[in-house]
Amino acid sequence: MANEKWIGLSLGTDIDWPACFEAMMRRLAPSFGTGKGRFEVKVRRILMDPFFLTDPSKYVLVVDRLTHWFKFAREWLKKAALMNDVYLLNNPFTFQSMEKHSAFCAMERLGIKIPTTVLLPQKEYPKNSPAYAKTTARYNLLFDLDEIADKVGYPLYMKPYDGGGWRGVTRVADSAELHQAYDESGTEIMHLQRAVEPFDVFVRALAIGPQVMPMRYDATQPLHARYVVDHDFLSPKMGREVNILTKTINAFFRWEYNSCEAIVQDEALYPIDFANACPDSSLTSLHYYFPFVVKSQLLWTLFCVATGRKMRRDLDFEPWFAVGDDRDLDYSEKLSRYEKLADEYFETARFHAFCAKRFGDIDSVLLDFFASAEFDDILCEKVRDIFPAREHDEFIAHFRGLVRMGAEGMFAPKAPGRGPRAGS
Ligand SMILES: Nc1ncnc2c1ncn2[C@@H]1O[C@H](COP(=O)(O)OP(=O)(O)O)[C@@H](O)[C@H]1O
Ligand SMILES: [Mg+2]
Repeated sequence: MANEKWIGLSLGTDIDWPACFEAMMRRLAPSFGTGKGRFEVKVRRILMDPFFLTDPSKYVLVVDRLTHWFKFAREWLKKAALMNDVYLLNNPFTFQSMEKHSAFCAMERLGIKIPTTVLLPQKEYPKNSPAYAKTTARYNLLFDLDEIADKVGYPLYMKPYDGGGWRGVTRVADSAELHQAYDESGTEIMHLQRAVEPFDVFVRALAIGPQVMPMRYDATQPLHARYVVDHDFLSPKMGREVNILTKTINAFFRWEYNSCEAIVQDEALYPIDFANACPDSSLTSLHYYFPFVVKSQLLWTLFCVATGRKMRRDLDFEPWFAVGDDRDLDYSEKLSRYEKLADEYFETARFHAFCAKRFGDIDSVLLDFFASAEFDDILCEKVRDIFPAREHDEFIAHFRGLVRMGAEGMFAPKAPGRGPRAGS
C-alpha cells in the first residue's frame, strides 16, 4: 500500500469550500513519487481532541479557518508548528501577533502609500484596577484630540488597531463626531486614519500562496453582493501594483491565505486593511470568484506537500527594509524589488512549473466538478444554512448562475466573454 500524507482542515462554520476541496481531492487522487517511494495525499477535518505536547501530528499541512477566534484550535496549531514541523496556512506565530497596526507600520517603512494614520491611547481603562489608575495618572496625560485629528484631516476613519469585520469602524466628518466616536470607543485602542475619498475603485485581493485574485468590492452592499463581477476595472499600472502589494504584504509576514483591501484614488494605490488572514472564503460571499479559491487552495497545498516545502516560522524583515530604506530607488523600482523578494519567498516560478507539469489538466476536472450534482448539493446546503427558507429558491438560482459563469470563465478552454484572471 502506498504511503499517505495528510492535509488537515481546521474548520469552524465553513461548509462550502472544504466540501469542494475534499471532493476535488478525491477526483484528483494526487500521488507523488520521492526517492523513498510514492505517497498519496489525503485530506480530513481536524477534531478537537485532547493532545499531549509530545504527540506526533497526523498532518503534514493544515489549512486553518478557525484559530483567529477559537483558542483551543490555535494552541493545537502552535504545538503542531513547534513540535511537529507542520506546514500551516496561516502560521499563528505571525498571524496572531501581527495585526492591522503592524501591517500599517511595516508597509509605511517599505514606502507603500498608507493614508496618514495615528494611534490614540484608549479612552477608558478597566475600572477598579489600582495598577491602571496609577499608571495612567502618571503617564497617560491629557492630549488635544482635535489637534491630532486636524493633522490627519477630515473626513477620517476611527477604527480599532486590530480590527476585523467592521467592528467599531466609524467615518468621522467633524470634531463633534470625533469626540462622540472616541467617547464610545471605551477600552479599544483606536487608529485615526485619513479617509481616502472620493475614490475611483475599492479593490479586495484574495491571495493563496503567490496566486492573487483582485476583485472589485462595494462595501455599501449586503454581504452576498459586495464582490462585484467586473473585469478590467484596474488600469494595467494599478493591476500590477495590487498584485505586487498583496504578495509583498503576504511574503513579508509569511501569510499565505490573506486578503488585502486597497483604494485607488487618482491612479495611486492606498492599502487600508490588509491583515485579514483566514479571509472569508464562502461561496455566498465570493460567488463568481469562488472557483478561484477552490483551485488555488488545491494547487498551493499540493505544491507544499509534494515538494516538502518547509514553513518559515521566523520572520526576516531585513531584506525588505534594505529596499525600503534605499533612497536611490523610486517607488516603482522598490515595487519591482519587492516582487522579486516575494516571488523568491513563494517560489513562484517553481510553483507554476509544478502546476503545469503535474496538474496541467486541473481546469477540466474543475469544470466538470462545478457542473456536477455533487457541487450543486454543496451549494444548496450552504444557501439553506445562511438564508431564510423563503429566499432559498431565489438564492440557489442566483449563486448557481454566478458560480457557473465564474467556473466557465476561468476554466473553459474557449470561454465566451472574459473570465476572472488571477495574477501571480
Ligand atoms: N482610510 C479609509 N478610507 C476610506 N474608507 C475606509 C478607510 N478605512 C476604512 N474605510 C472603510 O471602512 C470599512 C471598514 O474598515 P476596515 O479598515 O476595512 O476594517 P475591518 O478590518 O473591520 O474590515 C472599509 O471596508 C472601508 O469601506
Ligand atoms: Mg476590511
